[in-house]
Amino acid sequence: MSTYVASILRTVEIIMSSKYLIAFTGAGISAESGVPTFRGSPDSLWSRFKPEELATPEAFLRNPRRVWEWYVWRMSIIKKAKPNDAHLGLARLEELGILKCVVTQNVDGLHSRAGSKYIIELHGNIWRVKCSNPSCNYKAILEDIPKEIPPKCPYCSSLLRPDVVWFGEPLDPEIWDRAVNEASKADAILVIGTSGVVYPAAYIPLIVKERGGKVIEVNISESGITPYADVFIKEKASKALRDIVRLCEERINARKAST
Ligand code: APR
Ligand code: ZN
Repeated sequence: MSTYVASILRTVEIIMSSKYLIAFTGAGISAESGVPTFRGSPDSLWSRFKPEELATPEAFLRNPRRVWEWYVWRMSIIKKAKPNDAHLGLARLEELGILKCVVTQNVDGLHSRAGSKYIIELHGNIWRVKCSNPSCNYKAILEDIPKEIPPKCPYCSSLLRPDVVWFGEPLDPEIWDRAVNEASKADAILVIGTSGVVYPAAYIPLIVKERGGKVIEVNISESGITPYADVFIKEKASKALRDIVRLCEERINARKAST
């Protein structure tokens, strides 16, 4: 039996005996949808751009147009992207009542477009904007890519910014608390497509591990999660999730047939 098959069978065993399975995803789950990752390959974003020039509050203050040009470029890619079999597989596991929640670091919105219902977006959403004026609470969801950049707040005319978490910024405490609460309830976590190097997000799988839960990792290469993963599936996310969901459905049908 190949290592891959053994790891998929072990994964399905853990998933089917879990009481509270959650998923934790990173940019790698969207790679096969054509959305560039941040690390891990020559065309990853941080191999081509400097985060300190594009994804920090200081960068936005220094050159809001430049930051918006980069986000408009990413929006144009994400707008064309479609959820792949990994996003769809998680939505199916939720529909089967097996997966309880997706905690994602991604801002691309592909989990909700795939049909997942309970999603916690730790780093915000690229289609949401908020006013850069701290005393103004204007927020909005964009219907499309903004024509005029940088867009202005309709309430106070300050600049609008992407409602995403930049380097050096804290996560929304309410969102973080919800994610920690989910991890604290989980007895198994499916970690898909993350380098596991950005904190506090990368604590989520660790919380599950430290409470005796099982950590299953799907990645095309080793990551910061691999050293403590109970199962490491070295495969592209879409293939691995296709195989996992197919076997889970077979197990469920077999259970139904035997009752
Ligand atoms: N299937 C599975 N894993 C994949 C695939 C694939 N098809 N393609 C790439 N990967 C893996 C890479 O091996 C890498 O480990 O996905 C991971 C992507 O890592 P990152 O690009 O670092 O993305 P992520 O872990 O989500 O980054 C976390 O960093 O810059 C910040 O805010 C940004 O949310 C992001 C955070
Ligand atoms: Zn405003």
